[in-house]
Amino acid sequence: MSFKREGQINKFMFENYDLSLRRFWMIKAYTIASGKGGTGKTTVTANLGTALAQHGRETCIVDTDVGMANLGLVLGLAETPITLHEVLAGTASIRDAMYEGPYGLKVVPCGLSLQGFQNANPERLTDVMCDLTDRCEFLLLDAPAGIGTDGVIPLTVADEVLLVVNPEISSIVDALKIKILTETVGGTIGGAILNRAILEETEMSRRKIEKTLDVSIIDTVPEDANVRRAAAAKTPVVVGAPGSESSKAFRRIAAKLAGIPVEAEPHKVQEGFVERFARALFRREP
Ligand SMILES: Nc1ncnc2c1ncn2[C@@H]1O[C@H](COP(=O)(O)OP(=O)(O)OP(=O)(O)O)[C@@H](O)[C@H]1O
Ligand SMILES: [Mg+2]
Repeated sequence: MSFKREGQINKFMFENYDLSLRRFWMIKAYTIASGKGGTGKTTVTANLGTALAQHGRETCIVDTDVGMANLGLVLGLAETPITLHEVLAGTASIRDAMYEGPYGLKVVPCGLSLQGFQNANPERLTDVMCDLTDRCEFLLLDAPAGIGTDGVIPLTVADEVLLVVNPEISSIVDALKIKILTETVGGTIGGAILNRAILEETEMSRRKIEKTLDVSIIDTVPEDANVRRAAAAKTPVVVGAPGSESSKAFRRIAAKLAGIPVEAEPHKVQEGFVERFARALFRREP
């Protein structure tokens, strides 16, 4: 880490530590992070958020990847006029950037334009998070990949950072960097999620990752074609293919985060028109 970067991080830490969500007891905030891109952060955020909402928990998910946003895309919210970009630019309030997802999940997408990115001030994120504390029980932040300055802020504001790791060495090594960075800036690692696991290799991957990272694996989400099909249909897999192995894994993890017995199934009666419509669309995918 260069001296300049270290200085920036420490400055951020001292200026913002008091505003950290850790002082709010009524909300549990998780940042979903990885070093390497494409490990499944957005997929995990969308599905854990939906599974928590299915359990009747007031949940908000936020795309904090201000440069390369895609949470809105996988939930069919690509055309939203006001996003986190405008909130971080100081021209809109978080309430204006909040949209409804499946099962009443609250979604704050981020804009896609370069202009919006340039106008956004990522340091406003801490204030935005504070505004969200009285609106939900669970807050999930979809973090940018890598160790850029924009990515540091989500690592510090959450109660816990959950690392999304794939069973490949580059993903594990990059997750280690995020772990070290998180601890350097005063954040807390809550565990790792092994995503895109190949069934036969799961046990070996788990052991290797836990040993390398010195972090326990919360659970394993298998490689599952239903995940990609659901993303193409702009719906989370827990809605599009609730019986799939990946959906079961996402529901298990959500239950653990919420302290709900893992066997407890979400209230099926809560499925409304939007969810039925999403499942119908999903079935039409090739
Ligand atoms: N368990 C899974 N099985 C199969 N495909 C998956 C699984 N998890 C994620 N994917 C697919 O992997 C790709 C990357 O996932 P995703 O966009 O969630 O990663 P990301 O970490 O958010 O990426 P980025 O760093 O670019 O933001 C997507 O096409 C997604 O559908
Ligand atoms: Mg993403």
